[in-house]
Amino acid sequence: MTETAAQARTVNLAFTGASGAQYGMRLLQCLVAAGCRVNVMVSRAAQVVIATETELKLPGTPPAMQEFLTDWADARPGQILVFGRDDWFAPPASGSGEKAPLVVCPCSTGTLSALATGASDNLIERAGDVA
Ligand SMILES: Cc1cc2nc3c(=O)[nH]c(=O)nc-3n(C[C@H](O)[C@H](O)[C@H](O)COP(=O)(O)O)c2cc1C
Repeated sequence: MTETAAQARTVNLAFTGASGAQYGMRLLQCLVAAGCRVNVMVSRAAQVVIATETELKLPGTPPAMQEFLTDWADARPGQILVFGRDDWFAPPASGSGEKAPLVVCPCSTGTLSALATGASDNLIERAGDVA
């Protein structure tokens, strides 16, 4: 498939531990369907909330989660990349690499606070700092 510039766009998508994981999962489906590449980050609390509030049982490690989400969202291989909380070399952590928008959905109060203050204590917060 030939990608247009819009379709090739990369979006950083973070899930944190607030209610509403369904919105984030639906957004992931829509971004994939639109041809975007998606860098996914999932906080530890988000994994607990997703397991509690949805039917999804996300695997614990980023590689396994990447395989699971690629299959679940019907994405192309490599279209969804999953990064861990301490993956400081991941693209969303870089202020000099490709510019990509960040969506935090759902966003917990804790992460909202960290983003507002520039805490940068994990990859999601660092991605917010970069954005
Ligand atoms: C089932 C469940 C639902 C939660 N819902 C919310 C919520 O709607 N909003 C919120 O700010 N925190 C909520 N929390 C608490 C956060 O998960 C908790 O503050 C956590 O430390 C947030 O960490 P994170 O920002 O790294 O994901 C919930 C926790 C659980 C277990």
